[in-house]
Amino acid sequence: MKTILVTGGAGFIGSNFVYYMLKTHPDDRIVCVDALTYAGNLSTLEQALQNPNFRFVKADIADRDAIFALFEEEKFDIVVNFAAESHVDRSIENPEIFLKTNILGTQVLMDACRKYGIERYHQVSTDEVYGDLPLDRTDLFFTETTPIHTSSPYSASKASADLLVQAYHRTFGLPVTISRCSNNYGPYHFPEKLIPLIISRALADESLPVYGKGENVRDWLYVEDHCSAIDLIIHHGRVGEVYNIGGHNERTNLQVVKTILKALGKPESLITYVTDRPGHDMRYAIDPTKITTELGWKPQTMFDDGIQKTIDWYLNNRAWWENIISGDYQHYYEKMYQNR
Ligand code: NAD
Ligand code: TYD
Repeated sequence: MKTILVTGGAGFIGSNFVYYMLKTHPDDRIVCVDALTYAGNLSTLEQALQNPNFRFVKADIADRDAIFALFEEEKFDIVVNFAAESHVDRSIENPEIFLKTNILGTQVLMDACRKYGIERYHQVSTDEVYGDLPLDRTDLFFTETTPIHTSSPYSASKASADLLVQAYHRTFGLPVTISRCSNNYGPYHFPEKLIPLIISRALADESLPVYGKGENVRDWLYVEDHCSAIDLIIHHGRVGEVYNIGGHNERTNLQVVKTILKALGKPESLITYVTDRPGHDMRYAIDPTKITTELGWKPQTMFDDGIQKTIDWYLNNRAWWENIISGDYQHYYEKMYQNR
Protein backbone atom coordinates (compact mmCIF):
# COMPACT_ATOMS: atom_id res chain seq x y z
CA MET A 1 0.00 0.00 0.00
CA LYS A 2 1.39 3.37 -1.07
CA THR A 3 0.53 6.95 -0.15
CA ILE A 4 0.37 9.16 -3.21
CA LEU A 5 0.26 12.95 -3.16
CA VAL A 6 -1.75 14.32 -6.09
CA THR A 7 -1.51 18.10 -6.45
CA GLY A 8 -4.13 19.99 -8.46
CA GLY A 9 -6.60 17.13 -7.94
CA ALA A 10 -9.64 19.43 -7.97
CA GLY A 11 -8.89 20.42 -11.58
CA PHE A 12 -9.68 18.66 -14.83
CA ILE A 13 -6.96 16.03 -15.28
CA GLY A 14 -6.03 15.77 -11.59
CA SER A 15 -9.60 14.84 -10.59
CA ASN A 16 -9.81 12.24 -13.35
CA PHE A 17 -6.49 10.85 -12.07
CA VAL A 18 -7.77 10.71 -8.46
CA TYR A 19 -10.78 8.64 -9.59
CA TYR A 20 -8.62 6.48 -11.86
CA MET A 21 -6.20 5.67 -9.03
CA LEU A 22 -8.92 5.01 -6.41
CA LYS A 23 -10.45 2.55 -8.88
CA THR A 24 -7.29 0.81 -10.14
CA HIS A 25 -5.28 0.85 -6.88
CA PRO A 26 -7.98 0.54 -4.19
CA ASP A 27 -5.41 -0.22 -1.46
CA ASP A 28 -3.39 2.95 -2.03
CA ARG A 29 -4.09 6.18 -0.14
CA ILE A 30 -4.50 9.36 -2.16
CA VAL A 31 -3.88 12.75 -0.58
CA CYS A 32 -4.92 15.66 -2.78
CA VAL A 33 -3.53 19.16 -2.33
CA ASP A 34 -5.27 21.93 -4.23
CA ALA A 35 -5.42 25.70 -3.71
CA LEU A 36 -8.95 25.79 -5.22
CA THR A 37 -8.17 28.63 -7.61
CA TYR A 38 -10.87 29.59 -10.15
CA ALA A 39 -9.98 26.30 -11.95
CA GLY A 40 -10.41 24.06 -8.90
CA ASN A 41 -13.83 22.69 -8.05
CA LEU A 42 -14.16 20.66 -4.88
CA SER A 43 -17.61 19.36 -5.85
CA THR A 44 -15.81 17.39 -8.58
CA LEU A 45 -14.24 15.32 -5.78
CA GLU A 46 -17.54 14.76 -3.94
CA GLN A 47 -17.49 10.98 -4.46
CA ALA A 48 -13.79 10.69 -3.62
CA LEU A 49 -14.43 12.53 -0.34
CA GLN A 50 -16.64 9.58 0.73
CA ASN A 51 -13.70 7.17 0.30
CA PRO A 52 -11.67 6.51 3.52
CA ASN A 53 -8.51 6.19 1.39
CA PHE A 54 -8.84 9.79 0.18
CA ARG A 55 -7.87 13.01 1.96
CA PHE A 56 -8.27 16.57 0.67
CA VAL A 57 -6.02 19.41 1.86
CA LYS A 58 -6.55 22.99 0.70
CA ALA A 59 -3.09 24.50 0.21
CA ASP A 60 -0.97 26.37 -2.31
CA ILE A 61 1.98 24.33 -3.64
CA ALA A 62 4.09 27.49 -3.55
CA ASP A 63 3.43 27.89 0.22
CA ARG A 64 6.59 26.32 1.65
CA ASP A 65 5.36 26.20 5.27
CA ALA A 66 2.08 24.52 4.37
CA ILE A 67 3.71 21.98 2.05
CA PHE A 68 6.51 21.10 4.46
CA ALA A 69 3.98 20.76 7.31
CA LEU A 70 1.99 18.29 5.19
CA PHE A 71 5.10 16.25 4.34
CA GLU A 72 5.97 16.22 8.07
CA GLU A 73 2.51 14.78 8.82
CA GLU A 74 2.24 12.26 5.95
CA LYS A 75 4.81 9.84 4.52
CA PHE A 76 4.46 10.10 0.76
CA ASP A 77 5.81 7.37 -1.49
CA ILE A 78 4.94 9.09 -4.78
CA VAL A 79 4.19 12.72 -5.67
CA VAL A 80 2.35 13.55 -8.90
CA ASN A 81 2.29 17.27 -9.64
CA PHE A 82 -0.71 18.38 -11.73
CA ALA A 83 -1.18 21.73 -9.95
CA ALA A 84 -0.66 24.57 -12.39
CA GLU A 85 -2.11 27.61 -14.00
CA SER A 86 -3.09 25.99 -17.28
CA HIS A 87 -4.86 28.42 -19.62
CA VAL A 88 -2.71 29.96 -22.38
CA ASP A 89 -5.10 32.92 -22.85
CA ARG A 90 -4.92 33.79 -19.14
CA SER A 91 -1.10 33.60 -19.28
CA ILE A 92 -1.14 36.22 -22.01
CA GLU A 93 -3.34 38.48 -19.83
CA ASN A 94 -1.27 38.04 -16.66
CA PRO A 95 1.90 35.89 -16.70
CA GLU A 96 2.99 36.40 -13.08
CA ILE A 97 0.88 33.77 -11.33
CA PHE A 98 2.03 31.24 -13.96
CA LEU A 99 5.64 31.75 -12.90
CA LYS A 100 4.78 31.53 -9.21
CA THR A 101 2.66 28.38 -9.32
CA ASN A 102 4.20 26.51 -12.22
CA ILE A 103 7.88 27.15 -11.46
CA LEU A 104 8.21 28.10 -7.78
CA GLY A 105 5.45 25.67 -6.75
CA THR A 106 7.36 22.85 -8.46
CA GLN A 107 10.53 23.88 -6.61
CA VAL A 108 8.78 23.85 -3.21
CA LEU A 109 7.36 20.37 -3.86
CA MET A 110 10.76 19.01 -4.90
CA ASP A 111 12.47 20.62 -1.89
CA ALA A 112 9.96 18.85 0.35
CA CYS A 113 10.63 15.58 -1.52
CA ARG A 114 14.36 16.00 -0.97
CA LYS A 115 13.96 16.71 2.73
CA TYR A 116 11.44 13.99 3.58
CA GLY A 117 12.36 11.39 0.93
CA ILE A 118 10.12 9.84 -1.72
CA GLU A 119 10.28 6.96 -4.18
CA ARG A 120 9.21 9.06 -7.15
CA TYR A 121 8.42 12.68 -8.04
CA HIS A 122 6.41 12.92 -11.26
CA GLN A 123 6.00 16.18 -13.13
CA VAL A 124 2.92 16.45 -15.37
CA SER A 125 4.11 18.58 -18.26
CA THR A 126 2.81 19.40 -21.72
CA ASP A 127 3.72 19.03 -25.39
CA GLU A 128 3.50 22.85 -25.56
CA VAL A 129 7.11 23.00 -24.28
CA TYR A 130 8.20 21.93 -27.79
CA GLY A 131 6.58 24.98 -29.44
CA ASP A 132 4.68 24.17 -32.61
CA LEU A 133 5.00 22.34 -35.93
CA PRO A 134 4.16 23.76 -39.38
CA LEU A 135 0.77 22.81 -40.85
CA ASP A 136 2.33 21.72 -44.16
CA ARG A 137 4.77 19.19 -42.59
CA THR A 138 2.46 16.41 -41.46
CA ASP A 139 5.48 14.09 -41.40
CA LEU A 140 6.87 15.89 -38.33
CA PHE A 141 6.05 14.92 -34.72
CA PHE A 142 7.35 15.88 -31.27
CA THR A 143 9.72 13.30 -29.81
CA GLU A 144 11.38 13.47 -26.38
CA THR A 145 14.52 14.91 -28.04
CA THR A 146 12.73 17.73 -29.87
CA PRO A 147 14.31 20.97 -28.56
CA ILE A 148 12.36 23.05 -26.03
CA HIS A 149 11.08 26.12 -27.88
CA THR A 150 8.18 27.85 -26.14
CA SER A 151 5.61 30.36 -27.41
CA SER A 152 3.38 31.54 -24.52
CA PRO A 153 4.09 32.52 -20.91
CA TYR A 154 2.21 29.30 -20.00
CA SER A 155 4.45 27.02 -22.05
CA ALA A 156 7.56 28.94 -20.96
CA SER A 157 6.63 28.40 -17.30
CA LYS A 158 6.01 24.68 -17.87
CA ALA A 159 9.33 24.32 -19.73
CA SER A 160 11.14 26.15 -16.91
CA ALA A 161 9.66 23.71 -14.41
CA ASP A 162 10.78 20.75 -16.57
CA LEU A 163 14.35 22.07 -16.62
CA LEU A 164 14.28 22.49 -12.85
CA VAL A 165 12.98 18.92 -12.41
CA GLN A 166 15.84 17.60 -14.57
CA ALA A 167 18.32 19.74 -12.62
CA TYR A 168 17.06 18.32 -9.28
CA HIS A 169 17.58 14.83 -10.68
CA ARG A 170 21.10 15.49 -11.91
CA THR A 171 22.31 17.66 -9.01
CA PHE A 172 20.50 16.13 -6.03
CA GLY A 173 19.68 12.65 -7.36
CA LEU A 174 15.92 13.18 -6.89
CA PRO A 175 14.10 10.22 -8.52
CA VAL A 176 11.99 12.07 -11.07
CA THR A 177 10.03 11.39 -14.22
CA ILE A 178 8.34 13.86 -16.58
CA SER A 179 5.43 13.30 -18.97
CA ARG A 180 4.54 15.64 -21.83
CA CYS A 181 1.02 15.10 -23.04
CA SER A 182 -1.03 16.56 -25.87
CA ASN A 183 -4.42 18.32 -25.39
CA ASN A 184 -6.81 16.37 -23.16
CA TYR A 185 -10.60 16.28 -23.29
CA GLY A 186 -13.30 14.46 -21.33
CA PRO A 187 -15.35 14.81 -18.10
CA TYR A 188 -14.71 17.72 -15.69
CA HIS A 189 -12.97 19.88 -18.32
CA PHE A 190 -13.28 23.53 -17.19
CA PRO A 191 -15.83 25.27 -19.44
CA GLU A 192 -13.52 28.05 -20.62
CA LYS A 193 -11.38 25.56 -22.63
CA LEU A 194 -12.28 24.91 -26.29
CA ILE A 195 -14.31 21.66 -26.21
CA PRO A 196 -16.49 22.30 -23.12
CA LEU A 197 -16.87 25.97 -24.14
CA ILE A 198 -18.24 24.94 -27.53
CA ILE A 199 -20.56 22.30 -26.03
CA SER A 200 -22.02 24.63 -23.39
CA ARG A 201 -22.39 27.62 -25.72
CA ALA A 202 -23.86 25.57 -28.59
CA LEU A 203 -26.47 24.13 -26.19
CA ALA A 204 -27.46 27.72 -25.34
CA ASP A 205 -27.46 28.70 -29.07
CA GLU A 206 -24.71 31.25 -28.36
CA SER A 207 -21.99 32.30 -30.83
CA LEU A 208 -18.93 30.04 -30.92
CA PRO A 209 -15.62 31.96 -30.94
CA VAL A 210 -13.06 30.35 -33.25
CA TYR A 211 -9.63 32.02 -33.20
CA GLY A 212 -8.21 33.07 -36.58
CA LYS A 213 -9.28 30.70 -39.36
CA GLY A 214 -9.75 27.71 -37.06
CA GLU A 215 -7.00 25.83 -38.92
CA ASN A 216 -4.74 25.23 -35.89
CA VAL A 217 -4.25 21.54 -35.17
CA ARG A 218 -4.33 19.88 -31.74
CA ASP A 219 -3.64 16.20 -30.99
CA TRP A 220 -6.60 15.30 -28.73
CA LEU A 221 -6.25 12.60 -26.05
CA TYR A 222 -9.13 11.26 -23.97
CA VAL A 223 -8.27 12.12 -20.36
CA GLU A 224 -8.49 8.54 -19.05
CA ASP A 225 -5.73 7.55 -21.48
CA HIS A 226 -3.52 10.26 -19.98
CA CYS A 227 -4.24 8.87 -16.49
CA SER A 228 -3.31 5.31 -17.50
CA ALA A 229 -0.05 6.58 -19.02
CA ILE A 230 0.93 8.41 -15.81
CA ASP A 231 0.03 5.33 -13.75
CA LEU A 232 2.45 3.27 -15.90
CA ILE A 233 5.21 5.89 -15.73
CA ILE A 234 5.14 6.31 -11.94
CA HIS A 235 5.31 2.54 -11.42
CA HIS A 236 7.47 1.35 -14.33
CA GLY A 237 9.00 4.42 -16.01
CA ARG A 238 12.77 4.90 -15.84
CA VAL A 239 13.98 7.52 -13.37
CA GLY A 240 15.29 10.69 -15.02
CA GLU A 241 13.33 10.09 -18.23
CA VAL A 242 10.81 12.12 -20.20
CA TYR A 243 7.82 10.35 -21.80
CA ASN A 244 5.63 11.91 -24.50
CA ILE A 245 1.93 10.95 -24.38
CA GLY A 246 -0.43 11.25 -27.36
CA GLY A 247 -2.55 9.03 -29.55
CA HIS A 248 -2.39 10.39 -33.12
CA ASN A 249 -5.80 12.10 -33.00
CA GLU A 250 -5.03 15.33 -34.81
CA ARG A 251 -7.93 17.62 -35.68
CA THR A 252 -8.18 21.26 -36.73
CA ASN A 253 -10.15 23.45 -34.32
CA LEU A 254 -12.79 23.87 -37.02
CA GLN A 255 -13.16 20.09 -37.38
CA VAL A 256 -13.64 19.81 -33.60
CA VAL A 257 -16.27 22.56 -33.52
CA LYS A 258 -18.17 21.13 -36.51
CA THR A 259 -18.13 17.61 -35.01
CA ILE A 260 -19.71 18.95 -31.82
CA LEU A 261 -22.33 20.97 -33.73
CA LYS A 262 -23.29 17.92 -35.78
CA ALA A 263 -23.61 15.71 -32.68
CA LEU A 264 -25.82 18.32 -30.97
CA GLY A 265 -27.90 19.05 -34.09
CA LYS A 266 -26.92 22.74 -34.01
CA PRO A 267 -26.21 24.94 -37.07
CA GLU A 268 -22.72 25.89 -38.26
CA SER A 269 -23.98 29.48 -38.48
CA LEU A 270 -23.19 29.74 -34.73
CA ILE A 271 -19.46 29.76 -35.60
CA THR A 272 -17.93 33.24 -35.25
CA TYR A 273 -14.36 33.88 -36.33
CA VAL A 274 -12.61 36.15 -33.82
CA THR A 275 -9.18 37.80 -33.63
CA ASP A 276 -6.44 35.21 -33.34
CA ARG A 277 -4.53 34.51 -30.11
CA PRO A 278 -1.13 36.32 -30.15
CA GLY A 279 1.69 33.82 -30.83
CA HIS A 280 -0.90 31.08 -31.52
CA ASP A 281 0.81 27.67 -31.98
CA MET A 282 -0.13 26.12 -35.33
CA ARG A 283 0.13 22.39 -34.79
CA TYR A 284 0.90 19.98 -31.97
CA ALA A 285 1.50 16.30 -32.76
CA ILE A 286 3.06 13.68 -30.51
CA ASP A 287 5.20 10.68 -31.41
CA PRO A 288 4.37 8.24 -28.58
CA THR A 289 6.86 5.53 -29.69
CA LYS A 290 8.90 5.64 -26.46
CA ILE A 291 6.03 5.07 -24.00
CA THR A 292 4.48 2.50 -26.33
CA THR A 293 7.61 0.40 -26.76
CA GLU A 294 9.05 0.80 -23.23
CA LEU A 295 5.89 0.64 -21.15
CA GLY A 296 3.34 -0.94 -23.50
CA TRP A 297 0.97 2.06 -23.27
CA LYS A 298 -1.72 2.46 -25.90
CA PRO A 299 -4.69 4.83 -25.91
CA GLN A 300 -8.04 3.07 -25.56
CA THR A 301 -10.32 5.83 -26.86
CA MET A 302 -10.08 7.37 -30.32
CA PHE A 303 -11.43 10.86 -31.00
CA ASP A 304 -14.75 9.96 -32.64
CA ASP A 305 -15.78 7.81 -29.65
CA GLY A 306 -14.22 10.09 -27.06
CA ILE A 307 -15.94 13.24 -28.28
CA GLN A 308 -19.33 11.49 -28.22
CA LYS A 309 -18.67 10.21 -24.67
CA THR A 310 -17.64 13.74 -23.67
CA ILE A 311 -20.73 15.36 -25.19
CA ASP A 312 -22.92 12.76 -23.42
CA TRP A 313 -21.16 13.52 -20.13
CA TYR A 314 -21.83 17.27 -20.49
CA LEU A 315 -25.47 16.57 -21.36
CA ASN A 316 -25.86 14.31 -18.30
CA ASN A 317 -23.97 16.57 -15.89
CA ARG A 318 -25.38 20.00 -16.64
CA ALA A 319 -25.42 21.02 -12.97
CA TRP A 320 -21.63 20.58 -12.78
CA TRP A 321 -20.81 23.08 -15.53
CA GLU A 322 -23.79 25.38 -14.95
CA ASN A 323 -22.52 25.87 -11.36
CA ILE A 324 -19.17 26.89 -12.78
CA ILE A 325 -20.61 29.31 -15.29
CA SER A 326 -22.78 30.86 -12.55
CA GLY A 327 -19.83 31.01 -10.11
CA ASP A 328 -21.64 28.95 -7.43
CA TYR A 329 -18.93 26.28 -7.34
CA GLN A 330 -16.62 28.72 -5.56
CA HIS A 331 -18.82 28.54 -2.43
CA TYR A 332 -18.63 24.75 -2.21
CA TYR A 333 -15.52 24.66 -0.01
CA GLU A 334 -17.01 26.97 2.64
CA LYS A 335 -20.25 24.96 2.56
CA MET A 336 -18.44 21.65 3.05
CA TYR A 337 -15.63 22.71 5.35
CA GLN A 338 -16.73 25.70 7.43
CA ASN A 339 -17.75 23.54 10.41
CA ARG A 340 -14.96 20.96 10.16
P1 NAD B 1 -6.80 22.82 -14.52
O1 NAD B 1 -6.57 24.28 -14.71
O2 NAD B 1 -8.13 22.23 -14.88
O3 NAD B 1 -6.51 22.42 -13.01
C1 NAD B 1 -5.43 22.92 -12.27
C2 NAD B 1 -5.69 22.64 -10.79
O4 NAD B 1 -4.54 23.11 -10.06
C3 NAD B 1 -6.91 23.36 -10.23
O5 NAD B 1 -7.66 22.49 -9.39
C4 NAD B 1 -6.31 24.50 -9.40
O6 NAD B 1 -7.11 24.88 -8.29
C5 NAD B 1 -5.00 23.88 -8.95
N1 NAD B 1 -3.97 24.89 -8.64
C6 NAD B 1 -3.64 25.99 -9.38
N2 NAD B 1 -2.68 26.67 -8.74
C7 NAD B 1 -2.39 26.00 -7.60
C8 NAD B 1 -1.46 26.19 -6.54
N3 NAD B 1 -0.64 27.25 -6.53
N4 NAD B 1 -1.41 25.29 -5.54
C9 NAD B 1 -2.25 24.22 -5.53
N5 NAD B 1 -3.16 23.99 -6.50
C10 NAD B 1 -3.22 24.86 -7.53
O7 NAD B 1 -5.62 22.13 -15.34
P2 NAD B 1 -5.59 20.72 -16.11
O8 NAD B 1 -6.05 20.94 -17.49
O9 NAD B 1 -6.22 19.68 -15.27
O10 NAD B 1 -4.01 20.48 -16.17
C11 NAD B 1 -3.35 19.75 -15.12
C12 NAD B 1 -1.88 19.63 -15.47
O11 NAD B 1 -1.72 18.96 -16.72
C13 NAD B 1 -1.18 20.99 -15.63
O12 NAD B 1 0.11 20.88 -15.05
C14 NAD B 1 -1.09 21.18 -17.14
O13 NAD B 1 0.04 21.95 -17.47
C15 NAD B 1 -0.93 19.75 -17.61
N6 NAD B 1 -1.44 19.46 -18.98
C16 NAD B 1 -2.71 19.80 -19.32
C17 NAD B 1 -3.17 19.47 -20.59
C18 NAD B 1 -4.60 19.79 -21.00
O14 NAD B 1 -4.95 19.55 -22.17
N7 NAD B 1 -5.44 20.29 -20.14
C19 NAD B 1 -2.34 18.81 -21.50
C20 NAD B 1 -1.03 18.47 -21.10
C21 NAD B 1 -0.60 18.80 -19.83
P1 TYD C 1 -7.31 25.54 -25.47
O1 TYD C 1 -8.44 24.63 -25.04
O2 TYD C 1 -7.18 26.86 -24.80
O3 TYD C 1 -5.96 24.70 -25.37
P2 TYD C 1 -4.44 25.08 -25.88
O4 TYD C 1 -4.38 26.48 -26.31
O5 TYD C 1 -3.63 24.83 -24.65
O6 TYD C 1 -4.14 24.13 -26.99
O7 TYD C 1 -7.47 25.82 -27.02
C1 TYD C 1 -7.45 24.76 -27.97
C2 TYD C 1 -7.42 25.39 -29.33
O8 TYD C 1 -8.67 26.07 -29.56
C3 TYD C 1 -6.33 26.45 -29.50
O9 TYD C 1 -5.82 26.36 -30.83
C4 TYD C 1 -7.07 27.76 -29.31
C5 TYD C 1 -8.45 27.45 -29.83
N1 TYD C 1 -9.58 28.18 -29.20
C6 TYD C 1 -10.51 28.85 -29.99
O10 TYD C 1 -10.43 28.85 -31.23
N2 TYD C 1 -11.53 29.49 -29.37
C7 TYD C 1 -11.67 29.53 -28.01
O11 TYD C 1 -12.63 30.16 -27.49
C8 TYD C 1 -10.71 28.83 -27.20
C9 TYD C 1 -10.80 28.83 -25.70
C10 TYD C 1 -9.67 28.17 -27.85
